[in-house]
Amino acid sequence: MTAMRGETDVADEPLVLGIETSCDETGVGIVRGTTLLADAIASSVEEHARFGGVVPEVASRAHLEAMTPTIERALSTAGVKLPDVDAIAVTAGPGLAGALLVGVASAKAYALALDKPLYGVNHLAAHVAVDQLEHGPLPKPCVALLVSGGHSSLLLVPDVAAEVRPLGATVDDAAGEAYDKVARLLGLPFPGGPPIDRAAREGDPGYVRFPRGKYDDGTLDFSFAGLKTAVARWIEDRERAGEPVPVPDVAAAFQEAVADVLVHKAVRACLDNGVDHLLIGGGVAANSRLRALAKEGSVRHGIRVRVPRPGLCTDNGAMVAALGSELVASGATPSKLDLPADSSLPITEILLP
Ligand code: KG4
Ligand code: ZN
Repeated sequence: MTAMRGETDVADEPLVLGIETSCDETGVGIVRGTTLLADAIASSVEEHARFGGVVPEVASRAHLEAMTPTIERALSTAGVKLPDVDAIAVTAGPGLAGALLVGVASAKAYALALDKPLYGVNHLAAHVAVDQLEHGPLPKPCVALLVSGGHSSLLLVPDVAAEVRPLGATVDDAAGEAYDKVARLLGLPFPGGPPIDRAAREGDPGYVRFPRGKYDDGTLDFSFAGLKTAVARWIEDRERAGEPVPVPDVAAAFQEAVADVLVHKAVRACLDNGVDHLLIGGGVAANSRLRALAKEGSVRHGIRVRVPRPGLCTDNGAMVAALGSELVASGATPSKLDLPADSSLPITEILLP
C-alpha cells in the first residue's frame, strides 16, 4: 500500500538526538522534525538532597555513569538505532562546567563515530524551543519567561533558531533558587519547588505580604534575595517569640510574592514590545500558582500563554533535540568538533560555531 503523503513527509524529516547535562539531569531526547519520540531522563537530584543544592562534582560523575544507559533507553523507546540518527545536538552552555563537559564530550564521540553533524546549543533557547513539540510552531515573535534553579530571564524571541534577545534577568538569586532556600528555612526537602507548591495549597497567600523586589522599577529585571531574607527574618522573629511557624501560610505567601512579580514583569515585557504570545519555561514553570496567575494576567491583557507540560519544563533532552531539529530545518551550519563547553554562554549565542 502506498504511504499517505503526510506519513511520507514525516518519515523524511531528520531524526535528531539531543543530550542535556547542564545541571543534575542527564537527559536524552529523540525527535523527528517536531515529533517527540523519546525523552529519557536520569536524575542525580537525590544525591544532592542532603547538601540542599546541586554539588557540581557529584553531578558530573552521575552524568558519566548515566550517559550510555540513558542513550540506550531513549533509542529503545523511540524504536530507532544509532545509525538512523541524522544529527546530534547537545547543551554547550550555560550550566555547570564539569557537567556540561560530560555531555559535550559524549556528543562529540557520537557525532565522530556516526559521522553525523553536531550542534552545540544554548540551554535557555532549548527551554523555549521545547514547546514546539507540544503546541506546534512558536509564534514569531514571542516573549519567553524562563524560570529555573539556575536562571530567571525574560527574552524576546523573534526566531528561536536565529535570534533571541535578553530583556531582563535576575540580579541575584534565580526564582528556583529562592524556592530551594525558602524550603530549607521551612524544613522542607530539596528541591524546594514541589513541596512549597504542595504546602501552599493549604495556606493563605495573604497571611503575610512579603516584598516584591524590583516590582515597579522600570526594568524587566528580577530580584529574589530580599524576599528570601524577608522570609528568613519573619521565621526568626516568630521562633524568637516562641510561636509556631505556620508552614502552609508562609509557603503560600512566599509563592504569591514570586508568582506575582514574575507575571507582572512578563506581562510588562509583552506590552512594552507589542508581543501577544508569552511562553513560560524552566522548572519553576511547573508551579501551579505561577500557571494560574499567568493565565489570569494574560486574559486581562489579551496575551496568549503557552506553558509546556511539567516534564518538558524541567531540564530534559527533548528540549535540546527540539532546538537541534529547528536548527537543522533552518539550514544552520553545524558546530565544529572542537566545540567548547561554555558555562556562561550568553543567550544571544543560540548555536556555537
Ligand atoms: O529547569 P530545572 O529542572 O533545572 C535548572 O536548570 O535549574 O529547574 C529546577 C528548579 C528547582 O529550583 C525547583 O525547586 C524548581 O525548579 N521547581 C519548582 C517546581 N518544580 C520545580 N518551583 C516551583 N514550583 C514547582 N512546582
Ligand atoms: Zn534549565
